[in-house]
Amino acid sequence: MPLVTSTEMFRKAYEGGYAIGAFNVNNMEIIQGITEAAKEEKSPLILQVSAGARKYAKHVYLMKLIEAAVEDTNLPICVHLDHGEDFDVCKSCIDGGFTSVMIDGSSRSFEDNIAVTRRVVEYAHERGVVVEGELGTLAGIEDDVNVSAEDASYTRPDQVQEFVERTGVDSLAIAIGTSHGAYKFKPGQKPQLRFDILEEVQKRLPGFPIVLHGASSVIPEFVKMINENGGNMPDAIGIPEDMLRKAASMAVCKINIDSDLRLAMTGSIRKHFNEHPADFDPRKYLAPARTAIKGLVSHKIREVLGSNDKI
Ligand code: G3H
Ligand code: 13P
Ligand code: ZN
Repeated sequence: MPLVTSTEMFRKAYEGGYAIGAFNVNNMEIIQGITEAAKEEKSPLILQVSAGARKYAKHVYLMKLIEAAVEDTNLPICVHLDHGEDFDVCKSCIDGGFTSVMIDGSSRSFEDNIAVTRRVVEYAHERGVVVEGELGTLAGIEDDVNVSAEDASYTRPDQVQEFVERTGVDSLAIAIGTSHGAYKFKPGQKPQLRFDILEEVQKRLPGFPIVLHGASSVIPEFVKMINENGGNMPDAIGIPEDMLRKAASMAVCKINIDSDLRLAMTGSIRKHFNEHPADFDPRKYLAPARTAIKGLVSHKIREVLGSNDKI
């Protein structure tokens, strides 16, 4: 099974009322945990790589690890650039074998966003690669960019049709109140998403796949595990699972998850060291971290995304 694009995945997910998980990957254990879970759950999968991940692990290492996962699991896997900031990084990932890229022009003006997205789409489509664009800005931290809640802005439904038509993108990320990182809502704040905006977007783009970034639930079990084992995380509130299930049953076909993976891995490693303070063999603490990731991803596939038993 070669690497695939997300086109077929999204078509089936839209029709079936479920979503594909797009999980961020940074090293071998994360890739193994995610792909082992997807194989057991018979779920299609998107593995996404940020600029920070490419800087940390190098493009070629991540690519070879993902190719190894495809060979090992025989799963349909789409490899995607997360938050490409300009044409050059998108081109580098397309040339380097990715099957999907995101050009994140969301902080540019509407016209500049269209221009850069159109340029990436032309280059990508000629090479059989698909493109995700973004309209609206999420709060939170991506790489070195920190968008405050005040500077975040919801997607304007009156712009989506023109954006999709003029750029030719294959999917569109929208801002409806999710945000990146572990601290999505203020302490005591009730999580809310603008489903009215999603509905309006869906009406204007019938059948078109929508993407939700910043969609970790910040699972309390892992925050507790971190804090019970020497960590000191303040109260963290994520996106409730029932809201993600609702989004998946609508036009949302891709749900991005990174922070929950980080919390699962960190909680597990902290617990391991608390219980085995003399350990110094990395395999001793990375194996349970990989198992924690696998358990988390199985849970997401089954209970949140609904993408199990789809291959
Ligand atoms: O949306 C951002 C992802 O969580 C990737 O984070 O840029 O720190 O790798 P990163
Ligand atoms: P979280 O920080 O909520 O996991 O979001 C990840 C993301 O959107 C990656 O693009
Ligand atoms: Zn994101």
